[in-house]
Amino acid sequence: MKYTTILFDLDGTLTRSEKGITRSALYACEKMGYSGYTAEQFMSFIGPPLFESFQRVVGMNEEQAHQAIAYYRERFSVLGWAENEVYTGIPSLLRSLKKNGAKIAICTAKPQAFAEKIAKKFGFEPYLDALIGPDMSNTHASKAWIVRKAVAQLGGVPVMIGDRCYDVEGGQENGVDTIGVCYGYGTREELETAGATHIAETVAELSDILLGDAPRAKGVFLTMEGVDGCGKTTQRNALIEHLAQLGWDVQLTREPGGDEIAEKIRELILDPANTAMDDLTEAYLYAASRAQNVRAKILPALADGKAVVCDRFVDSSIAYQGGGRQLGTDTVEAINRFAVDCATPDITVYLRMPPEKALSRRLSTSEPDRLEREKASFFERTYKAYEALYARGDMERVVTVDAGLSIEEVSEAMIAAVDQKLHALK
Ligand code: TYD
Repeated sequence: MKYTTILFDLDGTLTRSEKGITRSALYACEKMGYSGYTAEQFMSFIGPPLFESFQRVVGMNEEQAHQAIAYYRERFSVLGWAENEVYTGIPSLLRSLKKNGAKIAICTAKPQAFAEKIAKKFGFEPYLDALIGPDMSNTHASKAWIVRKAVAQLGGVPVMIGDRCYDVEGGQENGVDTIGVCYGYGTREELETAGATHIAETVAELSDILLGDAPRAKGVFLTMEGVDGCGKTTQRNALIEHLAQLGWDVQLTREPGGDEIAEKIRELILDPANTAMDDLTEAYLYAASRAQNVRAKILPALADGKAVVCDRFVDSSIAYQGGGRQLGTDTVEAINRFAVDCATPDITVYLRMPPEKALSRRLSTSEPDRLEREKASFFERTYKAYEALYARGDMERVVTVDAGLSIEEVSEAMIAAVDQKLHALK
């Protein structure tokens, strides 16, 4: 890699932050008695110092601009800072940069305290060697000053990356190369005119400029588990949405099934007409579907740096075939060894729900498939097998969530636990 110290602007470069910024600017203007504006008219607030924007966009004088900043922060500190999403591909880029030994910093015109909260909430923190922004009282801090501080602290061969001319100029004033990114709030023309060393239209192009042919980090593999009726589909959707907000390119798959061939195996397994299917045959069919899914979908997506979310994986076989069908854990693990290959989940979400509760939930929904027609004792054994599996000492990947709470409570607990695991992965 040509550059070893990577300085990122925050808004418009790592995060899409217009909602929080424009709504807070609107709030401040309304408080100051400037009416008739809409949040969309404040897009140009993203990037330059607020002090300048309040004067330029609504014609305030310096004193009014100071007061407007106080109002702006009143809303931003509570709501605005979290009205943010990470550009797709950023987590994967940060992981690859770290894998190759780069130093990473955020260089932002946002007050450092806000930037730190954002870096924590959106998962940047574990990758950062520095986060540099002005303190709350320094409303005029220039990008050049911020870049100078970062370079002095981190050394190396630096490059400043940003979406506005301010970022490019801030780099140039320090003799630092710059990459202008066009997916944020500036235009290609603005960045070229400012004299950016490189231009990247997309996060993928940015990754190519920074990483060249250096090896890329693998994605993350998440699985979801629980007895039928535990609310897995709803929570899976919440998890996917959360990962996307964190900037992960998400690949969803399920078991049994996944690609076209594995889906055919799924039909065979779940067909209510196949009452004579032998238990061992069933276990092999789940493993066959898994072998196909792992090779056709999961491993390629991980190699592309994606977050793969798989609805059920080998733990389901241990619980259902090992416990429910009483084939035993050892047999099921042995059957699955070649199928799973090196696709070990990084994080497994286990939605814990006792079988009686899950059953009453299930009966109120759709037509049962062959597995769902099993007797209560089957689900009791399945549940016990899950519990025994996750009580094992080698299950650090598992986060257990009480699935009996409300949908929102379960989502909140799941997301907090997944975030913690994601941070620890690096
Ligand atoms: P599905 O409709 O996907 O159930 P759910 O929505 O609850 O995930 O059907 C999958 C069924 O297959 C479910 O009853 C669990 C069972 N199963 C096994 O018995 N073994 C396995 O290895 C897998 C992946 C699923």
